[in-house]
Amino acid sequence: MKLNIALLAGDGIGPEVIDQAVKVSNKIAEKFGHDITWTPALTGAAAIDDCGEPYPDSTHAVCEAADAVLFGAIGHPRFDNDPSAKVRPEQGLLKMRKKLGLFANVRPTFTFPSLIEKSPLKRERIEGTDLIILRELTGGVYFGERGRKDNNNTAFDTMTYTRPEIERIARKGFEIAMTRSKTLCCVDKANVLESSRLWRETVQAMEKDYPEVTVSYEFVDAVAMRLVQWPNSYDVMITANLFGDILTDEASVISGSMGLMPSASVGEKTKLYEPIHGSYPQAAGKDIANPLATVLSAAMMFEDFGLTEEAKTIRDVVNKSLAEGYVTEDLAEGGTSYKTSQIGDWLVANI
Ligand code: IPM
Ligand code: MN
Repeated sequence: MKLNIALLAGDGIGPEVIDQAVKVSNKIAEKFGHDITWTPALTGAAAIDDCGEPYPDSTHAVCEAADAVLFGAIGHPRFDNDPSAKVRPEQGLLKMRKKLGLFANVRPTFTFPSLIEKSPLKRERIEGTDLIILRELTGGVYFGERGRKDNNNTAFDTMTYTRPEIERIARKGFEIAMTRSKTLCCVDKANVLESSRLWRETVQAMEKDYPEVTVSYEFVDAVAMRLVQWPNSYDVMITANLFGDILTDEASVISGSMGLMPSASVGEKTKLYEPIHGSYPQAAGKDIANPLATVLSAAMMFEDFGLTEEAKTIRDVVNKSLAEGYVTEDLAEGGTSYKTSQIGDWLVANI
């Protein structure tokens, strides 16, 4: 297969982890006879420095023309502590999601047999955990009306959802549920929020179209609790943008490190694959960040191209590296650890 992939390394550790995913993908291409062209483009703080825009039109053109986007991370401390900054790197990510119509963010959480003891949760609680949080990505409070009033003394952000916005993410949820345990959990705050009541009403009306799927409705605060009590009791969940942002960070630690979980964002145009972690600026340039979430994001990309064997080969070699203790410092607990680039080289050598 001929693949043209837009490569958006972004900020912080982005370029380092992206490098490893590229090495691994190129090795997979060589092994299975594919031809990958990588087209790099700027985003985040790096793009602001270059042209004052975190997601320039030139980058959007590269993404639109590509078969997929592989994305590193975005964010820079220089902006975090400056609430008055006019442009922020994160705006680039939001603009990209909106312009590519990436309304569904697929964030899996699973455990690795060799890492069960690294989880802050007890073995019996997490064994067998394999869930997907489907986060709505282009609506809700992230994109609602916002502003200041009362001489700058009041601020507001609005959580708005339309019925079609809810229907399209819910449809994805039902479809994924059909390929798994045929259960779907709709996570909301319908006891308080009007937008959540519209979510519930909309999803309830769709149940008849998927008679095989059993739907449950749970409040987000209760889910936040049960997710760390009995994560293996969940399978497919759908939720609004902000709830999904928070729950997926929470869920990511179940596996033992935030540096392990991949994600895919899908919708109207080019799909995007990225690790769920941030730009980890303290580690930038040190060659210590865990590249596995990005490598596994590349595996999700191959899977979506129908290249199942290729995806499985990546997941298998990642599992092998973990089982053999070939890990970065976040997983080494003071024991022997390896550099980001060494992990990439090891994966390539073992494919
Ligand atoms: C994520 C990140 C982003 C989000 C930030 C960087 C804008 O936290 O992808 O989860 O909040 O969506
Ligand atoms: Mn987040």
